[in-house]
Amino acid sequence: MYLNREEEKILQGEYGEAQRLAMKILCALGDFFKAERLIKIESAHISGVSYKTGGDALIEVLERFVKGETKILVASTLNPSGMDLDRWREMGVTEGFAQKQSEIIKIYKAMGILDLCSCIPYELGNVAKLGDHISFSESSAVTFMNSFFGAYTNRESGLSALASAIVGKTPEYGIHLPENRMPEILVELDAELNNPTDYGLLGYSIGKSFGSKIPLLHKVPSIDLQQAKQLSAAMAASGSVPLFYIRNYEERKFEKEHPEKVIFDQKKLKALREDFAPTSQPDIVMVGCPHTSLSILKKISETLVSPVSNQTKLWIFTSRPIKLMAESMGYTQKIERMGGKIFCDTCPVVCPIPRFDLALTDSIKAAHYLPTMSKIESASLPLEDCLKIAMGGKV
Ligand code: F3S
Repeated sequence: MYLNREEEKILQGEYGEAQRLAMKILCALGDFFKAERLIKIESAHISGVSYKTGGDALIEVLERFVKGETKILVASTLNPSGMDLDRWREMGVTEGFAQKQSEIIKIYKAMGILDLCSCIPYELGNVAKLGDHISFSESSAVTFMNSFFGAYTNRESGLSALASAIVGKTPEYGIHLPENRMPEILVELDAELNNPTDYGLLGYSIGKSFGSKIPLLHKVPSIDLQQAKQLSAAMAASGSVPLFYIRNYEERKFEKEHPEKVIFDQKKLKALREDFAPTSQPDIVMVGCPHTSLSILKKISETLVSPVSNQTKLWIFTSRPIKLMAESMGYTQKIERMGGKIFCDTCPVVCPIPRFDLALTDSIKAAHYLPTMSKIESASLPLEDCLKIAMGGKV
């Protein structure tokens, strides 16, 4: 990969060890993917925050960066950590874990990275304009930013996004190049999607069947924020789809033909609903993958007309700023009065969740990951049904 004089100097360590290390990572990545050069980025979003997933190795790596007072060059935000930074005891997190997790956050903050600890940075100000190059490493946010903002980001790792934040650049390869952003399959919708969870099932089916291929969705009647979040998250979890298009909203004509055309019909939707449906009573209901929006906290506070049952816990995950807004509107107080808990800074998958037999969630991504990441059986239903069950309704 070609480096200009300034970039060469960084690689030679003229601006310090952390910059050198970050540039070395970007060069290795660029050389591997045959990038020709580095390009400037507007912002970054960094995953690899939870002590549960990173362990002591994460702290050791971060300590190498933080030496010499490294500061990031572009606005950057953090993905969820392994615990609610205030209420971790209520989550069953141990003192030892909490101490390590706080250390990780402290290091990131020392570099100037905003500790939003959320996977929906796009609802919290880390946004982009059409064509902006960014470096994001949360897969659901990558797909969301590429597809709905028209930003350009590869699916970065936590380390490469951090290196990009430090240098302010990323290697130009993959879907930073317009020619690699063409749709590769046409997915025609012939099913009635009734709620965001159904959009998650559509995303799950596409990711599972087509891996990292870029789909063009056809005949999607409408899409709102919640549907878009679930679709992006599920597609990026069952596969590694970094970008999709919805034909209804596209003014562009794509050059390539679409040799592969598949139909997502009512039969497929029904089969997937059945696959994810619970077959026994859950002992925890989890909402907030991706992190819950303010409008959903309002909806939950209105839907909880009776207390959460003694047999079930209701845990809701969101970002601290959204919880604060919900507090000012009284939603948080109502939900917690009814027995639900709203946790911030963490998520259902990256917290060291205590032992439960069956977790029910409205998120297909969470249902997909919980058995492997947390060793908990999972099932998924739309939000309204999850809340009914949390209030004591039978499966
Ligand atoms: Fe976010 Fe965690 Fe789900 S990072 S998308 S809530 S797995």
